[in-house]
This record gives sequence, C-alpha cells and structure tokens, in this order.
Amino acid sequence: MQVESERKGADERLSRGLRNYWYPVFRSQDLGAQPVGIKRLGEDLALWRDSEGRPHLFTDYCAHRAAKLSLGQVHGDILQCWYHGWQYDTAGRCALIPTEGEGCPTADRVRLTSYPVEDRGGLIWAYLGDATLFPPPPLHVPEELESHDWNGFILPVVWQVNWLLYLDNLVDPMHGPFLHARSYTLSGGTRQDSMRVVETDDGLVSERVAQRLVNFDGAEFHLPSWFRVDIPYPRSAGPGGPLHVLVAATPIDENSSAFYFVRMRRVTGWKWRLWQLTWRLYLDRAAWNVIEQDRVILESQRGLESRRGEHLVGSDLGVIRLRMLLQRELANQDARGVPLGPQ
Ligand code: FES
Ligand SMILES: [Fe+2]
Repeated sequence: MQVESERKGADERLSRGLRNYWYPVFRSQDLGAQPVGIKRLGEDLALWRDSEGRPHLFTDYCAHRAAKLSLGQVHGDILQCWYHGWQYDTAGRCALIPTEGEGCPTADRVRLTSYPVEDRGGLIWAYLGDATLFPPPPLHVPEELESHDWNGFILPVVWQVNWLLYLDNLVDPMHGPFLHARSYTLSGGTRQDSMRVVETDDGLVSERVAQRLVNFDGAEFHLPSWFRVDIPYPRSAGPGGPLHVLVAATPIDENSSAFYFVRMRRVTGWKWRLWQLTWRLYLDRAAWNVIEQDRVILESQRGLESRRGEHLVGSDLGVIRLRMLLQRELANQDARGVPLGPQ
C-alpha cells in the first residue's frame, strides 16, 4: 500500500513535467514576428523573437495588471503589452511605463520571469526550471538535428494526453506488432518476446531480446523526455537506410502535451530530394497513420488514473524502469532542495 501511495504521489508531482531540464517548446519555423502564447509544464508563457531573430520566453502575464503579453507587440528588442503599453526588454526588465514617462522608479523594480531559450536544430528549446538554484547545463540537442548528413521533417502535434503516458508508450516496443499491425513497416516480426533495459548517462535503452531492426524493436530514452528509435525502411522507401525517429514530449498541463515527431534519414543532395518526393507521395501519410494510431489509443486511456489497478507484466519492463528513473530524478532534485516550481 505504501509503495502504491508513494508512486501515486510521484505521478501527481510529475504530472506537469520534471522541471529543471531543457525541453523543446516550439518548432522554429512557426515562430515569426508576432509573439505567441503557449502553455508548457503548466505555465502560461509568451514566446517572441527580437530584432535579430533570437527567441525569448517570459511568463505570459504583464507585471502591471496581468494582461497576456502574448497579445502584445514586438518593437525591435522590446515586447510591449497591449493593455497600457508597458515595455519589456529582452531580459524581461521593464524598460518603460509610458503613462509615467522616463525615470519611473516602479519600472526599475519590475522584472518578469524569463527562461533561457535556444533556437537549435529546427526547434526552440527552453530551460524550464529555476536557473538560480539549479544553473542550466549546456543544451544537448540530438546530433541528427544539427548534422548536414541528416535531413528530415519535424511534425509538431498537441494531444489530449498526459506526457507520462506517452513516455510509457515509446519505451514499450511490444505494442508495435499489435497497435501498428496495419502500418507501412511496423507489422512484421514476432509478438512474444522478453525485454532488456540498460541505463545510460542520461536515460536508458529499452529493447526486445530476440528481435532487432525488424520493426520498432527498441528505444533510447533521454531525460527529461525525448526518444530515439530506429525503424528499418523497405527498399520501396528509396535510399537513406533506416528511418531515425526522434520524439520529444513536452507537457502542457496534466491533460495535454506537445509532441515533436522528427523523421530523419542519412540523406543529402539528390537522395534528400528523392526522399522529400517520396515523403510527399506516400511516406508522409504512412507516418501520420502510425502517429494517429498512438494518439487514438493514448487518448482512450483514463489519464494517469489508468495507472491504478494496472497489471504490469514482463513486456512492461521498460515502462517500469523508466518510471523508476523519473522518480529517482525527482528524489535527487528534492535532495538538492530544488523546488518543484509553480504549483
Ligand atoms: S496590464 Fe500590461 S500594461 Fe497594463
Ligand atoms: Fe506506437
């Protein structure tokens, strides 16, 4: 009983994310000159680009009377609130309160919560945590995203699914031959196997014991929330070898998440153009078919309530170990006195 209640407590605390980590929060190409309002890890945030295109991420509430800053306007390196025109610089400091004029002492005191942000590999990454108590480590971006040898597509979606259920899904290859029995590549192979899990520096590898590179047979997990999966592609998919799937999950709140599905192959030049063509002709549809199968089944679960009364078996080894890893990380942060963040 105690184990059950401890696990439930950890689930609740993790339900809006594990703070003090870098997360992808937006696809770069989707952020233009206008600020956008997003919710990530339960917080409302304003994302905007300055005059040089650098992204910035603030709390979405103006320090004056809490109007949404994402409804405001960008003027060079200033984000201006729509309501009464308070102006904020790129560090979140109040640069001007127009109704009071220059030299207003209130402006000097006001500073918005802002988060470190980097625009890399086609995604905007934010360090969602307390940078004072727990200084952000350098951002590690999956190497394929920044390599000239790899090319592909980034597909962002928002689902009504708690992020933890999605982690359970991707660390569990044994759902492949069932849920994806009708798909382009994922139906082959055996339906019975045991699992092996090995911890790594920043996560774990979960893989089938008796089958490799037949379909979805294993996954690398990297804290806090991204995966790498190799999927063999048939000859009909053209040159480029196996499909590298990268997936990052970023919690929005307890009931929804932003997912970034990246499909990469080692292709350049004409091979990359050929892949773009086959992607448009049919591989795009094949990818969305599989993504939709996962969405439908995950949205059919009862959120984190689905973890109550479950019956885990041998094939769930990856699920069990990933949950343990997150709980351990949470306990490590507690031990270092790092608060959970806005509750
Ligand atoms: S609420 Fe933003 S300027 Fe008044
Ligand atoms: Fe799946």
